[in-house]
Amino acid sequence: MKLCMIGTGYVGLVSGACFSDLGNDVICVDSDLKKVADLKKGIIPIYEPGLDELVVKNYNNKRLKFSTNLADSILKSDIIFICVGTPTKKNGNGADLSQIYNVAKEIRSSITKFKIIITKSTVPVTTGDEIEKIISHKVSKKLFSVVSNPEFLREGEAIRDFIYPDRVVIGTKDSRSNKILKNLYSPLISKGAKYVNISRRAAELIKYASNAFLATKITFINELANLCEKIDVNIEDISIGMGLDKRIGGRYLRAGPAYGGSCFPKDTKAITATADKFKTNLSVIKSVIKSNENRSLLLLKRVFEILNGKVKNKKICFLGVTFKANTDDMRDSSSLFMIPSLIKKGAKINYFDPTGEKNNFKKLKNVNYSVDIKSAIKDSDLIIIHTEWNDFKSINFKKDVKKKKFIIFDMRNIYSSNKMKELKIKYFSVGS
Ligand SMILES: NC(=O)c1ccc[n+]([C@@H]2O[C@H](COP(=O)([O-])OP(=O)(O)OC[C@H]3O[C@@H](n4cnc5c(N)ncnc54)[C@H](O)[C@@H]3O)[C@@H](O)[C@H]2O)c1
Repeated sequence: MKLCMIGTGYVGLVSGACFSDLGNDVICVDSDLKKVADLKKGIIPIYEPGLDELVVKNYNNKRLKFSTNLADSILKSDIIFICVGTPTKKNGNGADLSQIYNVAKEIRSSITKFKIIITKSTVPVTTGDEIEKIISHKVSKKLFSVVSNPEFLREGEAIRDFIYPDRVVIGTKDSRSNKILKNLYSPLISKGAKYVNISRRAAELIKYASNAFLATKITFINELANLCEKIDVNIEDISIGMGLDKRIGGRYLRAGPAYGGSCFPKDTKAITATADKFKTNLSVIKSVIKSNENRSLLLLKRVFEILNGKVKNKKICFLGVTFKANTDDMRDSSSLFMIPSLIKKGAKINYFDPTGEKNNFKKLKNVNYSVDIKSAIKDSDLIIIHTEWNDFKSINFKKDVKKKKFIIFDMRNIYSSNKMKELKIKYFSVGS
């Protein structure tokens, strides 16, 4: 099939590469000229395991193309996936849909035969209705169908998640589009993905409801971790004991820093804003947002306590600064709050991240990027394990930290506190 992905970011590039690998002809379009020029040279703009090989392979066999020409790419395609960003509005909690509506206006000028227009971006319920209205101003409704097909991939696991999803959600009542899309996804359905055909509005809401639920799970266990710290109970035991209950499940039930990333923070806000619009109070999700916002402050306070309030001139090392492992995405990472706050109190920060130095910290005084773990931790008074990369799971702290007295604050509970006790290392974890 001939597909066009509008927006070549985490979602557009991964799904475009995967669809081309499944045998479709795919054009990935982006308005970012540099991004497209780089992609044509085989330079991948994001860190995502396995993506380089997939992109280069399919670009070389000409099933995957890159373009900045939206009109031409639409003319050449039958199925158009909108994969542009839907960030939080500057003033408010709702989703800023300007990128979506701009694209809808651009698309309508290039429809000369039947096209399926799909929102893969996460969009509030009724956005599909609006897109349909925008396009039908200029194009007969017989020539297009607007469908919702939310994407559930996780950064860091994106290719696996795309190829082996739990479910493919298709929101449309148009049987012609449904048949074509079931066919497009048939390689994934035959590998076990459930195909769910529902109304467009329901598909739009499923995505937000899923993310809000996962964010709630994380926040729930994070709050319980706070209690565990006061009653000499290990939160890891609670996570295991709860997670083994099949009704609950162990995933997204590990205590740690505040949830971050490009989706949970903005999607929890957007779903409450949508509900407010329809005069419905999603009070559970609202309190999750509040609790999560408070979480970074709470962990920061813990850092102060660990250092007995003496932060000035302390050398603090962050291992990992992205919001989670296996991604280079810094959006809403709790390190963006913690590092500047610690500098303000006079700390000197050294950090290492497997995905390299971050622009977010380049202009900050007293923040230094180290090129490897050893040089990052060498002179530290306090080492904060912020992100759960495998690279951080077997560090020989005794050998590699040159300071006699150093402390570890393991925000991901990677290490065993008993082992650390045996090694006579001052060690703090979350929820114990
Ligand atoms: N990142 C994730 O893990 C993830 C997972 C599931 C769903 N989503 C959703 O998918 C959507 C995209 O997220 P993302 O993380 O891939 O965003 P992103 O910021 O990485 O990519 C969006 C891309 O769209 C491009 N763009 C914007 N306007 C354009 C236009 N008019 N024409 C062509 N290109 C244009 C931008 O240049 C950018 O490259 C969001 O709604 C997000 O919530 C994201």
